[in-house]
Amino acid sequence: MTRAINFSAGPAALPLPALQQAKEELLDWNSVGASVMEISHRSREFMDLAQQTETDLRELLTIPQDYSVLFVQGGAQTQFSMVPLNLLSDKNEADYIDTGYWSQLAIKEARRYAEVNVAASAEANGFTDIPRRDSWQLNPDAAYVHYTPNETITGVEFHWIPDVGEVPLVADMSSTILSRPLDVGRYGLIYAGAQKNIGPAGITVVIVRHDLLGRTSKSAPKLFDYQQQTKAGSMMNTVPTFNWYMVSLVLKWLKQQGGLSRMGEVNQRKARTLYECIDESGGFYRNRIAKKCRSWMNVTFDLGDSGVESVFLEESERAGLIGLKGHRAVGGMRASIYNAMPQSGVDVLVNFMQDFQARHG
Ligand SMILES: Cc1ncc(COP(=O)(O)O)c(C=O)c1O
Repeated sequence: MTRAINFSAGPAALPLPALQQAKEELLDWNSVGASVMEISHRSREFMDLAQQTETDLRELLTIPQDYSVLFVQGGAQTQFSMVPLNLLSDKNEADYIDTGYWSQLAIKEARRYAEVNVAASAEANGFTDIPRRDSWQLNPDAAYVHYTPNETITGVEFHWIPDVGEVPLVADMSSTILSRPLDVGRYGLIYAGAQKNIGPAGITVVIVRHDLLGRTSKSAPKLFDYQQQTKAGSMMNTVPTFNWYMVSLVLKWLKQQGGLSRMGEVNQRKARTLYECIDESGGFYRNRIAKKCRSWMNVTFDLGDSGVESVFLEESERAGLIGLKGHRAVGGMRASIYNAMPQSGVDVLVNFMQDFQARHG
């Protein structure tokens, strides 16, 4: 068996111990004589797993008691609709911060339901920087303020939590959740698709403060109602049991790693290693993002006018480094270095990049 060093942006690499445990338990999970995929989601065994998963997530993120933790389906983009359908209530206005591709898709979807005020946009700097908080034109009557703490495609990350006063702050944390400690209490609602730092695609985590429940639009599908999902323990319909199980294994692994403080240290160091390699390449590799908002999770770079990007991709794949091609919207390269990527994997990439430069620079 040869496992590549996987820099995929999502679905992304999962921790090897979680995959190995899943492999061992595939045919007979928890001595029930069947796989976890083949038993009722309402069985005692599965309900215990679901409960433990929530407990582990609460522990890792120190989620206060007045927040619901939901595991729903539909991916992060379904939340682009569920957020306005649940939080607008009798208000018609919502503030959005535009920092790039994913915030723009969230804005586009929200416009189906709300009067969207783009309170700040990074368009003027080509989405390479985050507009300073004091430039934001927030609407005090907005039902909520939505932002994207990490723009996965360009690799632009907030290293601060915006202060938006009394208006609930909503965050699409798909590509940064669980990468370091988080002050959940600063948010009204957090959501994240699983496929980067939580588990396989097909399950989405929503963390929502209780006072925001019970405001759901009557026209919203019942499965979109956060309050009903809270009451049902996220089990209004048949849940993606295998995904939930994989999430439980990933969270267990995270706890074994020493929790999110430790992950934060590891992730910061990994990112530093890679950005140093880029910055010290004398312009052979270029990252276009303002230094203060460079992502720890998605490190983007291009090879300037060298004309050897396709060679870089071919050679890196041959060297067992996969998933480095940048998103089609921006081109170049992207190394996604989520929790499951160890420092040693980043070191191999840096050695490859230095060697490649020596031969092609
Ligand atoms: C920040 C962010 N938001 C939303 C999405 C879309 O998620 P999904 O494909 O689960 O709808 C992604 C990409 O996976 C993302 O990186």
